[in-house]
Amino acid sequence: MRAKMGLDELKNMFDLTGKVAVVTGGSGGAGKAISIGLALYGADVVCTSRTLSTLEDTAAEVEKLGKKALPVSCDVTDPQSVDSMMKKTIDEFGKVDILITAAGIALRTEAENMPIEDFRKVMAANVDGTLLCCQAAAKEMIKQGDGGKIVTVGSIRGLHGHPAGYSAYATSKGAVHIMTKQIAIEWAKHNIRVNCIAPCIFWTPLTEPILKDEEMYKIFMQRIPIGRPAEPEDLLGAVVYLASEASAMVTGHVLYVDGGTSAW
Ligand SMILES: NC(=O)c1ccc[n+]([C@@H]2O[C@H](COP(=O)([O-])OP(=O)(O)OC[C@H]3O[C@@H](n4cnc5c(N)ncnc54)[C@H](O)[C@@H]3O)[C@@H](O)[C@H]2O)c1
Repeated sequence: MRAKMGLDELKNMFDLTGKVAVVTGGSGGAGKAISIGLALYGADVVCTSRTLSTLEDTAAEVEKLGKKALPVSCDVTDPQSVDSMMKKTIDEFGKVDILITAAGIALRTEAENMPIEDFRKVMAANVDGTLLCCQAAAKEMIKQGDGGKIVTVGSIRGLHGHPAGYSAYATSKGAVHIMTKQIAIEWAKHNIRVNCIAPCIFWTPLTEPILKDEEMYKIFMQRIPIGRPAEPEDLLGAVVYLASEASAMVTGHVLYVDGGTSAW
């Protein structure tokens, strides 16, 4: 049974001091903001992406906050690469407490013409990649014996269809949502809490062309009651909550960070 928290623990329940967090996609819009956010709340951060040099900025920002950063190159679709990334994490820090799976891709084409190669690429990065990283982290967390926190990254597209060619992406994110629930149930006995954040569209260099297209912007904004795209920083509250003891009783949940889209 979990001991009751004292007032100090309650006040500090979002504190991540002493925790080691692995963030995949650490050079991307979300991954970079999340790495910095976790460091701001006290975690050391292993930030990963395929190309090591793209992680320099993220690692430097984490270190500016007085936390340790370990940039590691890792292709999340490759089991050996994921295992090697996790081994480097354990060699450096001796443990992993938090995993955030922010690596992902989107390839959009109208459904009738979606090339099966593109469909498979999206599924490999978003679905295989999520599973492989969760497996690698969970194996360590099970060995460590004191639980852990996993936050997967889904999308509002995992819940609602959209006219802009998302047959591969939406399918992959729907899979991430249900995978989160499934592994949360299986790993609850190890005190590993697994939850998902599911954002609406947010500003990154990759979504800029969509959001700067007036017609597209209108189509997207019609679906977001709050009336604006998210910023990567809008994800932080949800991620820190799900990565910390503040969410100790929450597992298998998909938390929409979507300006109200899912309530529509
Ligand atoms: N940007 C949005 O509007 C939006 C909305 C909802 C959900 N998401 C999801 O958020 C996550 C992050 O998206 P983002 O907007 O920051 O994208 P991004 O393109 O800025 O970043 C994606 C990151 O994933 C990495 N990556 C891609 N394939 C990889 C692979 N095989 N191995 C390792 N790393 C790989 C890239 O190198 C990059 O660091 C993705 O899962 C995306 O689907 C994004």
